[in-house]
Amino acid sequence: MPKSPVRIAVVGGGYGAKVPLPVLCDLDEFEPVAVWSRRSERAAQLAEEHGLPLGTDDIERLLGHPDLEAVHVATPVATHAEIAIAAAQRGLHVLCEKPLAADLAQAREVTAAIEQAGVIGVVNYGRRFQQTRERLLQRIAEVVGTPRMVSISLVFDDHAEPGSRPFTWVQDAALGGGRLQGYGVHDLDLLIEAFGEIEAVAAATEVGVSEREAPDGTPRTVTAEDGYVIVVRFRDGGLGQISLTATARHKRGDVIEVYGSQGTVRLDADKCLHWARAGEELHSEGPLTANSKEAYARVARNFFAAIRDGAPAHPGLVEALRIQALLDAVHRADDERRWVEPEPI
Ligand SMILES: NC(=O)c1ccc[n+]([C@@H]2O[C@H](COP(=O)([O-])OP(=O)(O)OC[C@H]3O[C@@H](n4cnc5c(N)ncnc54)[C@H](OP(=O)(O)O)[C@@H]3O)[C@@H](O)[C@H]2O)c1
Repeated sequence: MPKSPVRIAVVGGGYGAKVPLPVLCDLDEFEPVAVWSRRSERAAQLAEEHGLPLGTDDIERLLGHPDLEAVHVATPVATHAEIAIAAAQRGLHVLCEKPLAADLAQAREVTAAIEQAGVIGVVNYGRRFQQTRERLLQRIAEVVGTPRMVSISLVFDDHAEPGSRPFTWVQDAALGGGRLQGYGVHDLDLLIEAFGEIEAVAAATEVGVSEREAPDGTPRTVTAEDGYVIVVRFRDGGLGQISLTATARHKRGDVIEVYGSQGTVRLDADKCLHWARAGEELHSEGPLTANSKEAYARVARNFFAAIRDGAPAHPGLVEALRIQALLDAVHRADDERRWVEPEPI
């Protein structure tokens, strides 16, 4: 018997409308039935475009939609917890954007609400399913051994000019903005997937472009980082660094280098992957792909399998809490200018 599709609502008219909504509409496993935006006209337009019965700016109305089974929460980070908890308390399964919440304490509250309601919780750490990163993780497992030095370097130019992006929650630390929530959490996820526990972190963040205009033209001060450097010490030995600038004048593809006790893996900016065991010449493959919609479809299918088949939720809440603990440690290390050990999960 084919399993019935999961009736789902998308909360968020930004990324939520760009990737999750069209992907969920294409997947047989889901039946999108409602969408939320802060602006009612945008919600109505999205509902019409995708043939959904409901487009609304009223979150309670969305969560109370008849026979709704699940939500994808894609709103500013500081608002995830309230929406995810409200959804779980109504018995809805929750697929939440990363990071799960504004901090570890809030993320634990979301986890508790989901567990108490007996619903499924998945967090969209889908970047690990992009072909570049998935192949990188496979090669690391095959050839690297224990890590000696790992480097992840991201370079973007999209925040270089004051006018290149308006001031939104992304530039507002109080709403959970910043590039750490955008990209840093995916790279912390990659390190945990590849090498397990991180013992301690040191970090520095920077606001490179400090003034931007809100969409209504009001000048605003940027409080959330557009650049950072994180240094990590793995529990089983080895060091790593993660860096990002969003204000470069010339962007470049992600470069990830892993030098281990048994071998080497390197992803170059052209998406070509190179790897070898000690004593071998480097093998190469690529260019590989890094498709966001394909990666999200993997997360969504896992969500479906957890709901309908009882499969493990993946990426699940424990993984999300580990990353959240590291993110808290990174912020504390930056604020207090010292090494910080993440809270154990
Ligand atoms: N997994 C990924 O690859 C990925 C990529 C991008 C973003 N994300 C995540 O998706 C989430 C949303 O990011 P986004 O880029 O989609 O943001 P966004 O476009 O700025 O906003 C998303 C939604 O929240 C609403 N919103 C904006 N500011 C708000 C505020 N101050 N209070 C309440 N609602 C507000 C927006 O309203 P309007 O509809 O009126 O605009 C929109 O519906 C974040 O958690 C982010 O980390 C994930």
